[in-house]
Amino acid sequence: MPITTCIFDAYGTLFDVAAAARIAAAEPGRGDLAKVWPQIAQDWRRKQLEYTWLRAVADQHCDFWQVTQDGLDWAMEAAGLNDPKTRERLLALYWELPAFPEVPQILAGLNARGLRCAILSNGSPEMLQAAVDSAGIGEMLVAKMSVQDVGVFKPHARVYDMVGARFGCARDEVLFVSSNGWDAAGAAGYGFQTVWVNRAGDPVDRLYAAPHHIMADLAAIPGLC
Ligand code: LAC
Repeated sequence: MPITTCIFDAYGTLFDVAAAARIAAAEPGRGDLAKVWPQIAQDWRRKQLEYTWLRAVADQHCDFWQVTQDGLDWAMEAAGLNDPKTRERLLALYWELPAFPEVPQILAGLNARGLRCAILSNGSPEMLQAAVDSAGIGEMLVAKMSVQDVGVFKPHARVYDMVGARFGCARDEVLFVSSNGWDAAGAAGYGFQTVWVNRAGDPVDRLYAAPHHIMADLAAIPGLC
């Protein structure tokens, strides 16, 4: 089936999650963070995601904002940082993450060709609205679907079910794009066409399915539709 619908993961795919720690570390008076920010960024993301998976298997769903704070608290403690003002600043920046540079142009190009573009994310509706507004890409997205509506995190099939429920499209009409290898694999196993945006050059996750396409950024997405 030809692709009619391009569904994007949000954090790490459209929005640069490492930017929060990078930006805060460059601000005056944050010498302690400046020394450890890459580790903070990596641990924060890793624990945030681990907590989503653990909460999904334990049937202990919560708002993505909760695991975002919990992940940061773990990362700051691991790095020996105990500064409430730095914590507050890092969390505030998470609400205004920049989009990766190629994102607006790619979305505009897909829109111009009549392809439906939307977000499907673990993020809460409020977090997604803030990120989209701050990056100025809201007009190019017909929907911002949040797992909040199904009460479980990715890669549960109930999350991917939201796409067909919303748009009435077949699974193989969907191009699902994620920078998370496990999310791209989950979506491939579900029956979507998939792209793993492997910005870091990581190995492929050994899971029950594999992404159909692997790219370093979003630039080649239009060539698939
Ligand atoms: C999301 C996370 C997984 O946006 O990146 O759903």
